[in-house]
Amino acid sequence: MSREQLLQMARNNIAHGDAGTIPQAKEILKVPACNYYDEDRWKLEMKNIFNRMPLMLAMSAEIRKPGDYKAMEASGIPIIIVRDKNGQVRAFVNMCSHRGAQLMEEGSGNTHRFTCPYHAWSYNTEGDLIGVLAPKDFGEFDKTENGLEELPCLEKAGLVWVTPNPHSTLDINLFLSGYDQLLENFGFEDWYLFGTQRVDGPNWKIAYDGYMDLYHLPILHKNTFGPDFPNQAIYYSWGPHQRVSGPMKGMAKMLGPDESQWPTELLVAGVWTIFPHVSIAGFDGGGRAVMISQLFPGETPGTSYTVQNYLMEKEPSSEKLIRDAQNQFEFLRYVVQEEDYATGLKQQKALESGAKEYVMFGKNEEGGHNFHRWVDHIIDTKDEDLSKLFMTG
Ligand code: FES
Ligand SMILES: [Fe+2]
Repeated sequence: MSREQLLQMARNNIAHGDAGTIPQAKEILKVPACNYYDEDRWKLEMKNIFNRMPLMLAMSAEIRKPGDYKAMEASGIPIIIVRDKNGQVRAFVNMCSHRGAQLMEEGSGNTHRFTCPYHAWSYNTEGDLIGVLAPKDFGEFDKTENGLEELPCLEKAGLVWVTPNPHSTLDINLFLSGYDQLLENFGFEDWYLFGTQRVDGPNWKIAYDGYMDLYHLPILHKNTFGPDFPNQAIYYSWGPHQRVSGPMKGMAKMLGPDESQWPTELLVAGVWTIFPHVSIAGFDGGGRAVMISQLFPGETPGTSYTVQNYLMEKEPSSEKLIRDAQNQFEFLRYVVQEEDYATGLKQQKALESGAKEYVMFGKNEEGGHNFHRWVDHIIDTKDEDLSKLFMTG
């Protein structure tokens, strides 16, 4: 846990708030408009980012007990994430060693073995092949060599990262760049998953740009939560992962001189993004909660979908709290679907006209600068040099 880093950021946000300033990038950034729709560029992003980088695919709250599993698709790869009998989270390609059938339907449940629907070969939660139908008829072979294909997987801070490409050598800890220690301040490992829902959106980078963008809040969201929101942002980064929060004018007085008493809840305010596809933002609806949005590219450059997860500090304990949580969750679907992504889908269409050569990120939108720089770096980096990129930050 890194409370001291949270305090440093709070002090900095207070100082900026009191001085009426924000940190600014040196220049306005121009990003080629075609980066949002070019087919070849998109294929490169899918291959070099979404296939070989760790993705935050599950929350510990989804697979709390040994045998709890979740089957899903990410980057076109069918994946099973499971807590094995010793409590360790593992990920496998959802694919039978016999002839490649998918073992589990998408969804979640609890099991002590995965049995193939085709010829009933079965595997334990450690991925070992433990049963072959009519083995004498089939013929002898080395079962130990034919377990499930395991994927790099790491559980940290109540979140689970999986790399869809089994051959990726990028160490997930290295990729996290210490960011997981900041996320630990939430204590997600003990939180409760209230619900998930799906929203369709534009090119994944348009959606991700929006998550780090506070500049638009009082404008695009003027009819919902926005009118009272300041539009200034202060960005912090750990490798490609970024937190954005606002200046905190006059907050030192309100919080008092004893920093050890400053509430963690307030210190973690803002939006926490996990590169390349997750955003976490705090809310209060039915109790303390966060919305964890997992963004996935769609079938084409111009599409994506987002899985919104409403994760609550405590399971709501009364009808009223459940209703409040439901209402907050529905409100967030509305805002993202009808305001952010509705705008993004039209933006996508306009960009695809090819009429503009570039789009801009202001000196006040440094999060966008960092994000697009990382995307460019990573897609240009060879497999063997990938780890180096994270060692240097
Ligand atoms: S493909 Fe799975 S048992 Fe045959
Ligand atoms: Fe927004």
